Amino acid sequence: MGADLEDVLITPERLQHRVGELAAQIDADYADRELLLVGVLKGAVMVMADLARAIRLPVEMDWMAVSSYGSGTKSSGVVRILKDLDCDITGRHVLVVEDIIDSGLTLSWLVRNLESRGPASLRVCALLRKPTAARTDVDVTYVGFDIADAFVIGYGLDYAERYRNLPFIGTLAPHVYTAGGAAEGGRAERGRAGLLDGLLPDHGSTRQGSSRHGGGEHNSR
Ligand code: IMP
Ligand code: MG
Repeated sequence: MGADLEDVLITPERLQHRVGELAAQIDADYADRELLLVGVLKGAVMVMADLARAIRLPVEMDWMAVSSYGSGTKSSGVVRILKDLDCDITGRHVLVVEDIIDSGLTLSWLVRNLESRGPASLRVCALLRKPTAARTDVDVTYVGFDIADAFVIGYGLDYAERYRNLPFIGTLAPHVYTAGGAAEGGRAERGRAGLLDGLLPDHGSTRQGSSRHGGGEHNSR
């Protein structure tokens, strides 16, 4: 296993099982209502895809992309919409699907923004929640896993846009995001090959040399 991956925190099997449980709960709760799932790009792509397929009710799906300002691994709550919803959510039953709640600042902003559009109901589903999220005012109705306060990657979650394609949730070794990593605005090039070694099918080449951003604005989280 590559040196950049500290630990596999949640296996693909546990992810699928828990997403199935959330879907069953959502099916029961929205049995008589028309549900619109709103995925937050890009981190929620995997959970949205699996959750939507596990839900038996007919649902619609829409997407938002927001960016938050902050350092490489922390958000500040200053949010900007990069891509707004395609549809009008007035009078709709909306379920926001998020990858992870850390400080909750991004979500708190998003919920206030969506509430102002007059949905019939608005709830949040988050695959992961860190202990720091307890400080936020936002009520998260569906939580996949409560996890410890570590930086996690995989199943949609990135570090400097990498590792989203891992089929599990893992923790990233701190050396990857300290001392010259992307958190300092540098590059995290050495991370990829080692981390993916033996974990994923060989896609032929390892991407090299593309520029990374860490400090400043995170695009599409
Ligand atoms: P918050 O505003 O601090 O709650 O941050 C929420 C966003 O930051 C998430 O939607 C993620 O995109 C990102 N984020 C927070 N913690 C992690 C992590 O451990 N790994 C990867 N991304 C994270
Ligand atoms: Mg991110």
